[in-house]
Amino acid sequence: MFGTMRESFTAATAVVVMGLLTVCSHSSLAVAQESSSSNAVVVDGTSFALNGDNVSYRFHVDNSTGDLVSDHFGGSVTGAIPSPQEPDVNGWVGMPGRVRREFPDQGRGDFRIPAIRIRQSEGYTVSDLQYQSHQVIKGKPALLGLPATWGDEQDVTTLVVHLYDNYSSVAADLSYSVFPRYDAIIRSVNVTNQGEGNITIEALASMSVDLPYEELDMVNLRGDWAREANRQRRRVEYGIQGFGSNTGYSSHFHNPFLALVHPSTTESQGEAWGFSLVYTGSFSVDVEKGSQGFTRALLGLNPDRLSWKLGPGEILTSPECVSVYSKDGIGGMSRSFHRLYRNHLIKSRFATQNRPVLLNSWEGVYFDFNQSSIYTMAEDSAALGIQLFVMDDGWFGEKYPRLADNAGLGDWMPNPARFPNGLEPLVEDATNLTVKDSSAKLRFGIWVEPEMVNPNSTLYHEHPDWVLHAGSYPRTERRNQLVLNLALPEVQNFIIDFMTTLLRSADISYVKWDNNRGQHETPSPSNDHAYMLGLYQVFSTLTERFPDVLWEGCASGGGRFDPGMLQYFPQIWTSDNTDGVDRVTIQFGTSLAYPPSAMGAHLSAVPNHQTGRTIPVTFRGHVAMMGGSFGLELNPADLQDDERESMPELLALAEKVNPIVLNGDAYRLRLPEETNWPAMQFISEDGSQAVLFYFQLGPNVNHAAPWVRLQGLDLEANYSVDGNATYSGATLMNMGLQYTFETEYGSKVVFLEKN
Ligand code: GLA
Repeated sequence: MFGTMRESFTAATAVVVMGLLTVCSHSSLAVAQESSSSNAVVVDGTSFALNGDNVSYRFHVDNSTGDLVSDHFGGSVTGAIPSPQEPDVNGWVGMPGRVRREFPDQGRGDFRIPAIRIRQSEGYTVSDLQYQSHQVIKGKPALLGLPATWGDEQDVTTLVVHLYDNYSSVAADLSYSVFPRYDAIIRSVNVTNQGEGNITIEALASMSVDLPYEELDMVNLRGDWAREANRQRRRVEYGIQGFGSNTGYSSHFHNPFLALVHPSTTESQGEAWGFSLVYTGSFSVDVEKGSQGFTRALLGLNPDRLSWKLGPGEILTSPECVSVYSKDGIGGMSRSFHRLYRNHLIKSRFATQNRPVLLNSWEGVYFDFNQSSIYTMAEDSAALGIQLFVMDDGWFGEKYPRLADNAGLGDWMPNPARFPNGLEPLVEDATNLTVKDSSAKLRFGIWVEPEMVNPNSTLYHEHPDWVLHAGSYPRTERRNQLVLNLALPEVQNFIIDFMTTLLRSADISYVKWDNNRGQHETPSPSNDHAYMLGLYQVFSTLTERFPDVLWEGCASGGGRFDPGMLQYFPQIWTSDNTDGVDRVTIQFGTSLAYPPSAMGAHLSAVPNHQTGRTIPVTFRGHVAMMGGSFGLELNPADLQDDERESMPELLALAEKVNPIVLNGDAYRLRLPEETNWPAMQFISEDGSQAVLFYFQLGPNVNHAAPWVRLQGLDLEANYSVDGNATYSGATLMNMGLQYTFETEYGSKVVFLEKN
């Protein structure tokens, strides 16, 4: 029997299981919020409706089996919904394999990939998790030890469905949190061993969804070092297609993000379902089109790197997966993620604040500096108008000085040959410099790579057992370094202690936290997740202890650009590739799932150190301004004449666009993989301002100048364009603007003000 109860499901008969009597509204916005959250979770018996402003997610309990069966995930549905036809059971596939399931376990005739695989103490991997009870919670409980979206009871409502396996005494609590204004539904799972024996969790997906549509495309981000976040789109075929990471981290190779879209969906039109796993470790994403035509998508911990033992009474909590739905194409999906992550994921107080224009020393001097030369660099930076100077790699190591990448990691004391009196004199002098054209003082930032150690270090000689290793197998090195095992409390404490000492030793207001290799030999597959729990504990301790520090994440560029990092780090270095043209693709790709406010983007020297290409300084600057944290990555002493001349104007422009990039809505108007004229537009939160970034990548020979049509404006309002002509929103969106570029690597930044 499937879904007989849903026939009677109407808003009128529904029991709304949350206290709506809370008096909270003073403003009309609060009233609107309350009204959209008041029916965020509606329960009728054992039928459940999760409602966003433009999304409905429905499922029910099958009375005969106790299974959770999905009814709908997509555009809003209201009132009663039709019951699906009961499938005929012919052939090998059993009933569970013929329906859309919320949390598929293994065995019982569903041959598709399960969301959970439990190896019971007896050795078999069958389970039977049945509905037991549910509860509705106002707001959203924290996720123990893991990063998670947060909000108060006006923002979010949570439904917890308790499942229980009578044969094995295993409980699974599925948690669904709805942020109605973001059309976002967030899911995680708690598995508890309530039995007597030990069990092993071999697979655990945070999200699993069966969509009924036969034709779907999947979109994801792939890449490698220095070429992150390339958009990949392909048709979902029968069978399993997926990707993931087994590197211990989210990695450059694949991002923990998936979109499912109709084949006709574009950037601005059509249905898109976006999924984003709030996790920094090894993960897997599987999409399976089964024999019955449903498409199952699973996102969660990577089963190859799990094998998690649960003794009696022990609990495993999955990371959470954010799902959003949009009918406004892939762009609409991205904007939901951006808004949610800016307002309900990033905890830093800098999340929506203007970021200081910074200069990072790495590409300018690499390892080659001392106290006096780095001070000169800071001095030159302040004289240019830079607000924050960042000393990158190369400042530490006592007995094993960090003069190259083969020594010093782990020994976090200033190199005495370079800094005879420690860091304080340099930081004091640098922070006494006045920033050009302002009364502000230069701020000082520093680079660290706390999770790593060079064998050439005192730390490694003292604690060889602190690194990840597998018995007596060789400890293979990458970039001459090994990985500290963050699963060990003594390693966590070591990092917390040295970082605390460092940050208290001088006036350091920014930290770039790097991580430059993947995990090779580990003591066991489950160490991957244990490492992450340790890492998150370190991150939360330090970011709570130093809330005024601006923390930037980095992992050889964008090797850990994921929602888990964003919880603690309001910005992440997007890529080690600073070539202006390559950056267009990388930043547009990254914006599929992540707010541009979170991207670190720097203007670097030419010829570019990664690609050898020479691109005009304005193009390089304009591309970098599309990131929330704009900066320079060069030695000011080496600036070429044209660069020096352009700098005041570029820095002023960067400051002007920064608030719109940080808090505005982003529209990818034209994609670099599809056109010679990619364009991105941002609209300020209140809609009063917009900025258009428009590029010409290659030369344009004997071809009409292109038009670009804007999006998201108010059709009826008038906008002045760069303070010159005024056009209506309708004209700007339906007809557009036309610009000519003189050469390849042409760029324009256009301001629109609503009249
Ligand atoms: C990584 C980072 C770079 C730089 C170097 C320093 O590659 O991504 O930005 O900090 O390490 O070694």
